Formats: sequence, C-alpha cells, structure tokens
Amino acid sequence: MEMQGQRLVLVPCPYQGHINPMLQLGTFLHSKGFSITIVHTQFNSPSPSNHPEFTFIPIPDGLTVPLVSSGNIVAILLAINANCKSSFEQCLTTQVMEQEPEKKITCIIYDEFMYFSAAAANHLNIPSIILRTTSAANFLARSTVIELHSKGHIPFPESVSLDPVPQLHLLRFKDLPISTFDTLENFLRVVVNSHDVRRSSAIVCNTTVCLDQSSLAQIQEHCQVPIFCVGPLHKLNTAAPISSLLEEDTSCIEWLDKQSHKSVIYVSLGSVASIGEKELAEMTWGLANSKQPFLWVIRPGSINGSDWIELLPQEFREAIGERGFIVKWAPQREVLAHGAVGAFWTHCGWNSTLERISEGVPMICKPCFGDQKVHARHVSEVWRLGIELGDVFERGEIERAVRKVLVDNDGEEIRVRAKDMKEKIQVSMSSGGSTYNFLNKLVELIIRF
Ligand code: UDX
Repeated sequence: MEMQGQRLVLVPCPYQGHINPMLQLGTFLHSKGFSITIVHTQFNSPSPSNHPEFTFIPIPDGLTVPLVSSGNIVAILLAINANCKSSFEQCLTTQVMEQEPEKKITCIIYDEFMYFSAAAANHLNIPSIILRTTSAANFLARSTVIELHSKGHIPFPESVSLDPVPQLHLLRFKDLPISTFDTLENFLRVVVNSHDVRRSSAIVCNTTVCLDQSSLAQIQEHCQVPIFCVGPLHKLNTAAPISSLLEEDTSCIEWLDKQSHKSVIYVSLGSVASIGEKELAEMTWGLANSKQPFLWVIRPGSINGSDWIELLPQEFREAIGERGFIVKWAPQREVLAHGAVGAFWTHCGWNSTLERISEGVPMICKPCFGDQKVHARHVSEVWRLGIELGDVFERGEIERAVRKVLVDNDGEEIRVRAKDMKEKIQVSMSSGGSTYNFLNKLVELIIRF
C-alpha cells in the first residue's frame, strides 16, 4: 500500500474525554497502514500497554502539583500550551533527525486544545490537522460566545439567562458553554486559540452529519479549511482497548446480566464533573423511588466533601438492596451496549452523549458545565432523544423522569427516536455513508501530504 511506513504524530489533550477519541482515531489510521506515534504530557499520561501497536513519547509539561490539584482545567490548559511549546518542538526535531527516510513524519494530528503543536509543525514544515472532540453544535456556541463577548453582551445579567440566543437554535443564554473554572478572559484565550485554524490543513470532528448537520452548515460557511466529520469514533473499531485513566470495575457486567431487558438506568457523570450534597440527596431518593434497577458510577472524589460514597445515607443503601449497583468506574461502552440498559442518566460530556446515541439509549441529562449544557439542550429540545432535568429539582421530578425514559407510555416517542437515530448513525458508517466517505477522504488527504 502507498502509505505503508508513513508516520503520523498524534497529540492528545490529557483528559479522558479527549484521550479516548484521539486514540480511537489512531487505531483507525493504524488499521489503514500508518504508523502512529503518540506524543503526550506526563500529566494524565495514557497507558502504553493498552496500545502496543503505537509508539508513546512523553514530553515535559512543567505542571506543578498545586496547579494540577486545583482542578482548574482552563489554567492547566494555558500552562500546558505555554510549557510544551519548546519541549514538543525539541521532541519533533529529534524525531525528524533520527527518522528513516521511508518512515517520515507525514502529518501531526493534535487536539484543538493542544494548539502549541501547530507552531512546531509549521516551523518544521510538517502539515497538521486539528481534532475537535466536541460537537459542531458546541463549536458554534463557543464561536457565538466569542462574538457576543466582543459586542459586550457577555458576561450577561441574570435577567437574560432564560432568553434565547439569537443566532443559536433553541439555546438560552444560560446554556452557553462558558467555563467557570477560571476568569472569562482566560477561558476566552483558550477558546480563541483553539479556534485558530490558519496553520492547519483540515479539521477532523468526532461527530456525524445526521446529528450535527445544521450547526455544521453554519460553521462551514466561515471555515477556511475542509472539515471531516468522522464520528462516532468509538464505533470505528469496537474491539480496540480503551485507555482508561481509572481502573474499570467489570463486576457490573455480571450484575447487568441478571437484570431484565432494557430495565436498568445507567448513571454516570463522566471523568471531571462533581456534585454537592443536596444534589446527591435528590439523586439517591429519586433513584430509590423510581423502583427501577440502576447502575451508578460514583467516581472517587466526585461527591464534594467526601472520598467516595460515605455521604450516601444508610437508609438509602437498605432501601435499594440488590436493585442498585455502585462502582467507581465502569467499562462504559460495554455497559451502554448491554441489553439490560434501557436509559442513561448523563452529564452530557460529548463522548458519553455520542456513545449513548449510537446505542439508541434514551437519556436523562443533568449537565454540569461547559459543552455539557449545549448537549443537554440539543438532546432534549433539538434531537429530542431525552429529558433535561431542571437546575433545582422539583419533588418527584427525578423518579418521573426515570420512569418516563424507561417504561412509561409518554416516553415511547423518545425511545422510538433514539432507536431511529442509532439506525441513521449505522447507515452513516457503512459503505457510501457520510462518515465512511469522510474517513476515506481523510486518508487520501494524508497520503497526498
Ligand atoms: C470532558 C468534559 O467534561 C466534557 O464536557 C467534554 O465534552 C469532554 O471532556 P468527560 O466529563 O470525561 O469529558 O465526559 P465524556 O466526554 O463523556 O467522556 C468520558 C469518557 O469516559 C467516555 O468515553 C466514557 O465512555 C468513559 N467512561 C465514563 C468510562 O469508561 N467509564 C465510566 O465509568 C465513565
């Protein structure tokens, strides 16, 4: 094959929701004959043993312990981009000097938040491609935030939080993906830099046309480079190992095996979000009162003020008995594809959202921050594949929502639409479908470099 031996350097952003899609893209490109080198930070480094087919090269990231433990993602991203610029360029230069002529680095594919990569690639005259791990809908919303800020409309007063954002279909001001981890200025610095595509040849998005068509059309109007929608990436090679930063507890699969078809609600808030004591109490009693079986991922540290599940009331544990199963981290793809899982309570991180949509599982959305609010709104109001819970829970709201998506008649429309969307996504991935065609075009582009 023509591309045999061509080498690609991939630069993932060191968070679970970003590492997964980058390595999934790497697995696909490896299956097409490219050799793959992953250049990564020491912070949250992916595990090389899961991917013996890749070469892993760590670079110094200069992150301090206090910064990492602050959990301020915006500050961490700014520091990574400042600190890794020269270490990455040095690493690339060494790789280029040592490379065998038949194994030349053809292209650098970097996460949009690892924008330091573009300068080094340019400097060494290597073409680069950006991977966007979020939805087109969220990208469009972020662009709108930049625009509204430049016109002085952001920050916005509380009084407009429920007003619709003029340019964005069905989004309210409160749904805009503004991070509260750091100052607005620092957040915008990250966003503006990550949106700068001038030095790259193309953008690869982990989304699919059948979901994100209207947002995509608007983005394409102003975008100077081609966009390839190759998602859902996790579906390209379902046998590929996951690079989990936490250990997966597979005992939940045995528990799922004992549950009836489509009876279980799977609850997970992803790898970053956390909840307070009040929200925890509402969730516990909502789940208990719904009388439906549930599998709940409670990541250590994800309940503010406790190490793990110490704050779960004893009466709750007694009330649920065998009906509930709690784990620290689940093999999520396997869980969502399991026949017993009928619905997903999610924070609406983009990976979780795509994983669930691809399995035709309806959802309950309880977004925490950033893009999650955009996705929750799209799931409930645009794609209508689930229900979004309010900011403050009303009495009985959770149990009604759980029963609606799982069993009650008034949730039938949502369940049917979820199944239809799964089929549309399958079509997009098979021969002649949009994802299938974009993947072929991407491979052709890289070969031409
Ligand atoms: C973060 C942001 O929170 C999110 O808003 C953004 O879209 C991506 O980056 P995260 O919170 O981790 O992501 O959520 P998500 O995008 O859903 O990614 C989580 C990944 O971890 C998924 O691939 C999911 O399958 C996996 N996961 C989650 C597990 O493997 N086991 C679990 O128990 C929970």
